[in-house]
Amino acid sequence: MNGNSPRIIAVSSGKGGVGKTNFVANLALFYASLNKKVLILDADLGLSNIDVLFGIAPKYNLKHVLLGEKKIKDIIAAGPLGIMILPASSGIRELTKLTDSHRLKLVSELDDFDIPFDVFLIDTGAGISDNVLFFCSAAQETIVVVTPEPTSIADAYALIKVLSRDFGERHLRVMVNTARSEKEAFDTFRKLAIVADKFLNLSIDYLGFLPFDQHVKDAIIAQKGFIAMYPNSAFTKKLAHIGKKVLDNPLNEVKGTIQFFLKKALRVG
Ligand SMILES: Nc1ncnc2c1ncn2[C@@H]1O[C@H](COP(=O)(O)OP(=O)(O)OP(=O)(O)O)[C@@H](O)[C@H]1O
Ligand SMILES: [Mg+2]
Repeated sequence: MNGNSPRIIAVSSGKGGVGKTNFVANLALFYASLNKKVLILDADLGLSNIDVLFGIAPKYNLKHVLLGEKKIKDIIAAGPLGIMILPASSGIRELTKLTDSHRLKLVSELDDFDIPFDVFLIDTGAGISDNVLFFCSAAQETIVVVTPEPTSIADAYALIKVLSRDFGERHLRVMVNTARSEKEAFDTFRKLAIVADKFLNLSIDYLGFLPFDQHVKDAIIAQKGFIAMYPNSAFTKKLAHIGKKVLDNPLNEVKGTIQFFLKKALRVG
């Protein structure tokens, strides 16, 4: 890891169900296994599920913070290996679109949050809704998850387009999930890279891929992290490779704290 600067990384996708939450949970486990202090924000505010994946049932969630009933530190749920989780609430329709006052509240509450962390992972939910765009622009960098399906590629392009055109993001990384081979993964990335270059004049980075592994479902059902259950699998090796690459190569100059980034997001939001 470069110095001690905390990293704030959003994980997003155009299409839903492409493996963001599973990726975030396993990336968190990987960093925690390296003794990094990891914080996960479940920013999929309408349909959260990081907590389900870790088999925990948090008592409080972001809704309580937004309503002014709790502070951020009061809602932290303990995940495995000391991972700190800021849970969202499922099925709360009001949170599917944060209002400006919700955003202000969240920013000011995060301003007061003084528990140190090394890596802050934000699971944004899918699509190009205002919430997703807000959290992506609040982060230092965004990883877009895509699968080889044409619909997923088209939706990833739509997200990349809005982030670059309307939010000025110039550095985006792509992780291809559920690829059947290295070639399929790279072909998927290349399709995106060509259109991003041609129509957006944007160069996107290839972060790597995670293979399709039928045991991912087993790990989710067992509510244990995949890399903890299958430490020797190809998936786990690829995940570690991706995790190290992200840590060793910050995309944007680390020029601020979480407050800096959240305020930036408020300006553009
Ligand atoms: N590499 C993989 N191999 C096999 N199955 C996978 C893999 N990654 C994810 N899955 C499966 O895909 C499904 C969706 O995964 P996940 O919930 O992480 O997606 P998501 O992008 O977070 O979805 P949403 O947009 O609804 O939040 C899950 O059932 C999971 O088991
Ligand atoms: Mg999810």
